[in-house]
Amino acid sequence: MTSPDRYAVIGNPISQSKSPLIHMAFAQESRQNLVYTAIEGPLGQFAATVDAFRAEGGKGLNVTLPFKLDACAYATELSEDARAAGAANALKFEGDRVQAQNFDGVGLVRDITHNLGQALQGKRVLLLGAGGASRGAILPILHQAPACLFVANRTVAKASALVQSFHANGAPATLQGGGFDELGRDAFDVIINATSASLSAATPPLPASAFAADGLAYDMVYGKGLTPFLQLARQAGVRQLADGVGMLVEQAAEAFAWWRGVRPETRAMIARISVPLV
Ligand code: ATR
Repeated sequence: MTSPDRYAVIGNPISQSKSPLIHMAFAQESRQNLVYTAIEGPLGQFAATVDAFRAEGGKGLNVTLPFKLDACAYATELSEDARAAGAANALKFEGDRVQAQNFDGVGLVRDITHNLGQALQGKRVLLLGAGGASRGAILPILHQAPACLFVANRTVAKASALVQSFHANGAPATLQGGGFDELGRDAFDVIINATSASLSAATPPLPASAFAADGLAYDMVYGKGLTPFLQLARQAGVRQLADGVGMLVEQAAEAFAWWRGVRPETRAMIARISVPLV
């Protein structure tokens, strides 16, 4: 048997990463001869660490915090999503070529539309936050042709600047941005929390009127149970709540398919690593 192809996730810290578990399960299921490990990249030494991985025959990397911008700078070719996000979460190495992708937004959209059954076309979508997580989600959501995509942020200027940068690159007028007090009275079909508020157990300042009972409230963080945002949504009567575990597994599946040409099944893995929303 030939020696397995090498892949890894690089980040700092990295011990919490579920990517090795997910990718090794994908490899087993799809009978791909590969090993996938975790690399704790020393801060400030992303390029040298990746150079060494490639020199040992590494074929591809997932990239997580704090190296997503470094991954963009390291690449020789950026996908549209990586360029728009200004960040990459997957690299593929072929000789001197380094291709970069950002599958976070595509993974989010696939989870919402495919796994959770909420089509985004023609819907009113609200995205909370104007940081990197939000930036990466905008293009994939716009590709679904929602009726509107409103980006709301605590620091209003950041939301406005983010939306303007997408308009400057041809985004449609259905993309809007502003503060939480500019949301108006119409409810949103899908509300996605891309702020880091859940990590500090804080609640984004969202009025109950923003939630539609038959809509979806989606928190990008995962494994934290019922976050303050999801609690708020439940209190407002939203029946469908989700955390970001499906996004995590779907972005992994996208990277796996890009590297190996086989798209693995995701439902069993999502079920395996899900934490109940209580
Ligand atoms: P990431 O790359 O994960 O998106 P980031 O770039 O630091 O992280 O962005 C964090 C986002 O969460 C920002 O939009 C931030 O709002 P501000 O721009 O006003 O700082 C948002 N955020 C963090 N804590 C929040 C809270 N308690 N309430 C509302 N928004 C919060």
